[in-house]
Amino acid sequence: MDSKKTVLVSGGAGYIGTHTTVALIEAGYDVVVIDNFSNSEASALDGVEKIVGRKVVFGEIDTCDIKALRGVFERHAFDTVIHFAAYKAVGESMDEPLKYYQNNLVSYMNVLEMMKEFKRPNVLFSSSATVYGNAEELPVTEESPRQPATSPYGNTKQIAEDILRDCCAAYEGFRGIALRYFNPIGAHPSALIGELPSGVPNNLVPFITQTAAGIRQSLSIFGNDYNTPDGTCLRDYIDINDLARAHVAAVDRMTDGRMQTRYEIFNVGTGRPVSVLELVTRFEKANGLKLPYRFAERRSGDVPAVWADTARANKELGWKAERDLDDTLRSAWEWEKHIRHIQ
Ligand code: UD1
Repeated sequence: MDSKKTVLVSGGAGYIGTHTTVALIEAGYDVVVIDNFSNSEASALDGVEKIVGRKVVFGEIDTCDIKALRGVFERHAFDTVIHFAAYKAVGESMDEPLKYYQNNLVSYMNVLEMMKEFKRPNVLFSSSATVYGNAEELPVTEESPRQPATSPYGNTKQIAEDILRDCCAAYEGFRGIALRYFNPIGAHPSALIGELPSGVPNNLVPFITQTAAGIRQSLSIFGNDYNTPDGTCLRDYIDINDLARAHVAAVDRMTDGRMQTRYEIFNVGTGRPVSVLELVTRFEKANGLKLPYRFAERRSGDVPAVWADTARANKELGWKAERDLDDTLRSAWEWEKHIRHIQ
């Protein structure tokens, strides 16, 4: 394997990890996936293998276990790591902050430590639009100020960005890119991979598809009295396959020597705000069904509106969100039907 064309993907069995693994392999990269299945299933990798038509190199590894992680670095030559492995439930992070700080930061620092020790230069970190908090100006650019995090989960994203910035400044040969994801939704067009939330989904689209499948009685739309056109929150929903391609563009940029500074940040969104109500209506129309929903109290911690200025990603990464929202919403429903065995 050519180390320049090989990528270690931690958390590669998860929602973003599986789609990114497919996109990397389709772009000609070799991928080494590690995951501890703490919030994913081995079957997700079967889906990846079916799509790409070959075996994926995989190790069941907890990135918090530095000895196990060192073994991965010893066995495989790769220049680039994409670090997805992390917990991601905002509410749970409020109840169990130490679980989040421990897992999300220790695993991340282990990865960076190994990269330093083994002189592996490139790291791509999964950050989130959550770092912008309740932004004063919209859309947000990468220069928009970060707001103090309102959850331990959000705080781990901010801290991890800062750790990466500091490592890139201090360690010769280190290069880092932080991708700030907006709201990833949808599934692969094959319906062989998608999001697999455990328990009651926190995020909007999995709740919608589970309601459509009859698993949830009714969708609650959190707040219809925001200062937005229809009173519901505005978000930037980005197709998961487009998001996956942004990782390939970022890896290309790191390995081609096109980075202008050693640490870069990119917004990964569509640049288009969509309200919760609009998303629900579009889902209904795109899939020809009706969703039971009601308006409920605002959810604490939600910001009224956030969407991306994507100019930097469009220009520097040469990447743009392309997939049509209706197709994305159809893919979300196809995936839900696939996992629930609904015709
Ligand atoms: C959430 C997290 C964010 C994280 C992201 C990961 C919060 C406050 N933010 O973003 O930190 O990076 O997930 O995917 O949790 N909604 C409903 N009914 C529902 C679920 C959601 O009306 O049952 C609304 C929400 O109020 C929000 C929109 O749908 O306006 C999107 O919600 P969600 O999918 O949870 O994403 P974010 O809150 O934007």
